[in-house]
Amino acid sequence: MCGIVGYIGDKKVAPILINGLKKLEYRGYDSSGVAIFGDNNLDVIKCKGRLSILESKVLENMPSGTMGIGHTRWATHGEPNDVNSHPHISNSGKIAVVHNGIIENYLKLKEFLQSQGYDFKSDTDTEVVAHLVEYHYKGNLIEAVIESINEIEGSYALGVICSDCPTEFIAARKDSPLIVGLGKGENFIASDIPAILEYTREIYILEDKEIVHLTKDDVKVYNIHGAEVKKEIFNVTWDVSSAEKSGYEHFMMKEMFEEPKVIKDTISPRIENDKIVLDNVSISKEDLDNIDKIYIVACGTAYHAGVVGKYIIEKLARIPVEIDIASEFRYRDPLISDRNLVIIISQSGETLDTLVALKESKKRGAKILSIVNVVGSSIARESENVLYTWAGPEISVASTKAYNAQLAALYLIAFDFAYKKGRLDEATYKSCIKELKSLPSKTEEVLANKEIIQKFASQHYNAKSIFFIGRGLDYALSMEGSLKLKEISYIHSEAYAGGELKHGTIALIEKGTLVICPVTQDDLVDKMISNIREVKARGAVVMAITQKKNKDMEKTADVVINIPDIDPLVAPVIAVTPLQLFAYYMAVEKGCDVDKPRNLAKSVTVE
Ligand code: G6P
Repeated sequence: MCGIVGYIGDKKVAPILINGLKKLEYRGYDSSGVAIFGDNNLDVIKCKGRLSILESKVLENMPSGTMGIGHTRWATHGEPNDVNSHPHISNSGKIAVVHNGIIENYLKLKEFLQSQGYDFKSDTDTEVVAHLVEYHYKGNLIEAVIESINEIEGSYALGVICSDCPTEFIAARKDSPLIVGLGKGENFIASDIPAILEYTREIYILEDKEIVHLTKDDVKVYNIHGAEVKKEIFNVTWDVSSAEKSGYEHFMMKEMFEEPKVIKDTISPRIENDKIVLDNVSISKEDLDNIDKIYIVACGTAYHAGVVGKYIIEKLARIPVEIDIASEFRYRDPLISDRNLVIIISQSGETLDTLVALKESKKRGAKILSIVNVVGSSIARESENVLYTWAGPEISVASTKAYNAQLAALYLIAFDFAYKKGRLDEATYKSCIKELKSLPSKTEEVLANKEIIQKFASQHYNAKSIFFIGRGLDYALSMEGSLKLKEISYIHSEAYAGGELKHGTIALIEKGTLVICPVTQDDLVDKMISNIREVKARGAVVMAITQKKNKDMEKTADVVINIPDIDPLVAPVIAVTPLQLFAYYMAVEKGCDVDKPRNLAKSVTVE
C-alpha cells in the first residue's frame, strides 16, 4: 500500500522524507519519490525500485528546501515505472501531489481536464488530482483542494504542495489512512505512525473527509464544508515495531482487520450506476457464448478461492467450470482450446506453476482472465484481461485479506457473466449488487466477535488433529480454513465434504476430536445438522459458523460463531474470517511465529 510522508519546518526536509519513507517500507512498494520546495520551485525526484535508489539520487543532488512530500508507491493504475511514481505534478509545475487510494472516477475527470487543455504524462489515477487542484487554484490552495475533493469519488489520502505557497501545505483523507504529527516549529503528515515516531509522539488521527492546513507553527483541520474541526491529540505509546502493525501483535491480525476495506476497494470501483463494470476486462456476451468451458487455475489459498469461483460461476452463469491446481494442470496435457476461458488467480502474480499454466493455456489459444493483486507482476503482464484485487501488500505469509479480495473479484465476474448471458433478471442482478455492497460492514461485524473464537482456541490449542466439514460453498471454505490452521499452527487438519464423512473420515472421530463446521448454505443446513449429530454421537467437540437466523445450531453444536444474516451465495466472503481468526488464535496460543511460519514462503517462484 502506498506510503505518504510530508514535512514543513526549519530542517532540511530531504533526509526527513527519506527516513520516514524507510519506516513505511513494511507496507510494500515498487517505486518512490519526493517533491521538495526550494529556490521558488519544486524539485521532484522519483524512480522505480528500491528506496535506496531514490536515496542515492537525493544524496547526489540534495535539495536544500524545508518543506516537501514523499511517497512509496504500490502500483494500482499503471505499472511500476519512473513516470507513474509519485509525486505527480500539474502542467505548470506548480502543484505536486502524493496519493494513497483509488480515484474511481478518474477517467471522467481525465476527459474533462483534457478538454481544458491538460496534458497527462502518466497512466495513474493520481495525476488527475494534480491537474484538478491546479484547475481550481485561484490563489488559495486549501480552497482548490476542497473543490477538487468534492469532485473526486473513491478513496484518498492526499498531500498537496504548491510552489506559490512555500509556507503551507494541505492534506486530506477519505477511506485511506493519514495522520498528522505535531512538532515544535515543525509539523508532519504520514500514512502511518512509524514514519514520524522519531520526531513526535503527538498526533491527530484524521477522519474521513477531513482536510488539514499545515504551516510550521500551526495545524488546522477542516471538514468538507470548510468549517474548522477541533481534534484531540493522541499520544503514541507504541514502539516502532508495534506501530508498523498499527498496534496489532501480528501483521496477520492487522491484515484481517483490513478485510472490510479491501473488499470495498475491490468491489466499489467496479459498480457504476448499479451495474458491474470490469476494468481491464473485455469479455463480451459473444465471447461468453463462444466459451464451452472455463478453467480456474491457481495454487494454495488462491486455489481455494477458485473452488468458490467454480460453484458460483456454474450456478449463476451456467457455464461449466473446471478447477485445477496449477502444478497439476501444467503437466496433464489439459484439453484447452480457443473455446475456453482460463481464469488465473494469484496474489503475488509470480507463482511459477501458475505462470507456466497461464503460458500453456495461451499457447493453446485460450482466452485469459487473471485475478491478481500485484500490478505489473509477471502474471498480470502475460494476461490479456486482468482484474486486480485491491488488497494492498500482504506481509503475513498466511494469506487472509487477499483471499477475501479474490472472492470479491470472483463474485463480480460471476454476476457479470451471468447478467451478460441473460441468466439474471434485472431485479436479481440488483439484489446481487446490493449484497456485494453489504459485505464490508458485515465483515466488520464478524471481526467484532473475535473474542468467542479466541476463547475457544485457548481451550483447544493442544488438539492433535482437527477436521473441517462443510457442504457446497462451505466445503470450499473448509478447505481454506484447514489450510490456514496447518500453515500457522502446525496442527494436522483435513477438510471433508459433509457427504463424504461416512465414506471413511468418521472412523477417525473419537472422544474430544475437534470438528469445525461452516454452515451457511440454507438448503444444506439440515444435512449439516445431521453430520454434526453424527460426529457428536462419537464424542466430537463441534464449533459451527452460521448465520444468526439459524437458531437451531445452538442446540446442535458445542460452540456457535454467529455471522450476520446474509444471502448464502455470498456468505463465504464473510464466513472465512472466523476460520482465519481460529487459525490465528490457535497459532498464538501455541507460541508459533504467526507471520513467518516454518518452511513456508509468501511467493513460490520455484517448482
Ligand atoms: C504460497 C503462499 C500462499 C499462497 C500461494 C499462492 O504458498 O504461502 O499463501 O496462497 O503461494 O500464491 P499466489 O501469490 O499465486 O496467490
